[in-house]
Amino acid sequence: MKIAIAGTGYVGLVTGVCMAYHHHHVTCVDVDTEKIGLMRQGIPPIFEPGLTELMAESSDNLEFTSDYKEAYRDAEVIFIGVGTPEKKDGSANLSHVFEVVRQIAETVEHDCVIVVKSTVPIGTNDKVEKALRDNLVHPVKINVVSNPEFLAQGSAVHDTLHASRIVIGAEEKEAGEIIQRVYEKFDAPKLLTNRRSAEMIKYASNDFLALKISYINEIANLCEIVGADIEDVAKGMGYDGRIGSKFLNAGIGYGGSCFPKDTKALHWLGNYYDYEIKTVKAAIEANENQKLKIIKKAHKYYESFSGLTVAVLGLTFKPGTDDLREAPSLVSIPILLDDGAKVKVWDPAGSRNFQKIYPVEIVYCDMIEEALKGADLCLIFTEWEEVKFLQADDFKMHMKKPVVIDGRNCYSLDTFENTGVLYDSIGRRTVK
Ligand code: UDX
Repeated sequence: MKIAIAGTGYVGLVTGVCMAYHHHHVTCVDVDTEKIGLMRQGIPPIFEPGLTELMAESSDNLEFTSDYKEAYRDAEVIFIGVGTPEKKDGSANLSHVFEVVRQIAETVEHDCVIVVKSTVPIGTNDKVEKALRDNLVHPVKINVVSNPEFLAQGSAVHDTLHASRIVIGAEEKEAGEIIQRVYEKFDAPKLLTNRRSAEMIKYASNDFLALKISYINEIANLCEIVGADIEDVAKGMGYDGRIGSKFLNAGIGYGGSCFPKDTKALHWLGNYYDYEIKTVKAAIEANENQKLKIIKKAHKYYESFSGLTVAVLGLTFKPGTDDLREAPSLVSIPILLDDGAKVKVWDPAGSRNFQKIYPVEIVYCDMIEEALKGADLCLIFTEWEEVKFLQADDFKMHMKKPVVIDGRNCYSLDTFENTGVLYDSIGRRTVK
């Protein structure tokens, strides 16, 4: 099929490449000409394992352009995968979505199905369809289908090719069938439903996962107080199939482009309809507190950070990405800097983006040892494999005072027993 994709971020580009891999003819559209230039050379503008290889393998079916007219004019299906960032009040900013809608309305010359993949508030697909029909320049038949995306960064290609489910929300049977045909070669359960349910499935899924993380983080905080061990507690809970063992890793809070934004957006939407979703509100609040946990812990050992050298391992919101959006490191590092600490960081992917925010205030290290050298304190924000590999000796050898606060529970407590390293993690006893 001839497919156009609006937006070449994580959702748009990965969807486009995977569609091309499954032999659709795909044109990816983006306003950013620099990004288009890179992609034409086979270079993805985002860091995502396996994407470069799949782009190369599918290049015969893949085009990139900034000329939306060329892409939309005779497409059979147009996917909208542009961003819906958070507005100041927590609601979703739909301006990019409606800009694409405007461009489609002015351009399409054949009947086609418009698929909204961006995460949008419930009812948006109806508005998109109305805006399209009201503004179509040519007399064509269009249908709007909601098809939310569930990929996670760092495993986006795998999550798309082997999706947990493909949700298709359509109001007209024919449109739903066309999108089912688009996904014919994708090996995943397909759920056909109406548009509002599809929109809600996305928010309900993301917010449930965020809630699960905030819940385990609060249980971890209580574990520290009462002397229980969160790793064993989570393991014991996970054996129950009704609970499941995934997303029970306690830490310093969830970040990224989805959970923080989507929890706030659903909470905002509930309030808009005069219905407060108390569970989601609690998840948001618990996460805000959790992000400060590493600094609160550090204060147990140092009243002030002034004059201290602090090694920071990991900046990104999770491993396998260079994305810093809503990363807990963004909350804590300014506190260290304001207090007068010398901050040395190591991150194999995120440093470049962090450097754009803090070009000179921070020392960026290529090697972990360099960051640890002479440090009075080490804070772990991201569970990169290289960090998980470290032994007690690595901290002891390089740091001035081996005080390690691990926000992602990268090690077993045994690693630090009788080593002279002070190891404080989340929801577990402190090893001294
Ligand atoms: C998430 C959803 O997983 C995905 O389905 C959706 O489409 C987009 O949002 P992503 O944001 O890429 O994906 O990352 P994810 O792996 O879900 O992690 C999000 C955050 O939660 C990270 O900061 C991670 O560290 C944190 N997390 C995750 C925990 O703190 N504990 C866990 O057990 C799992």
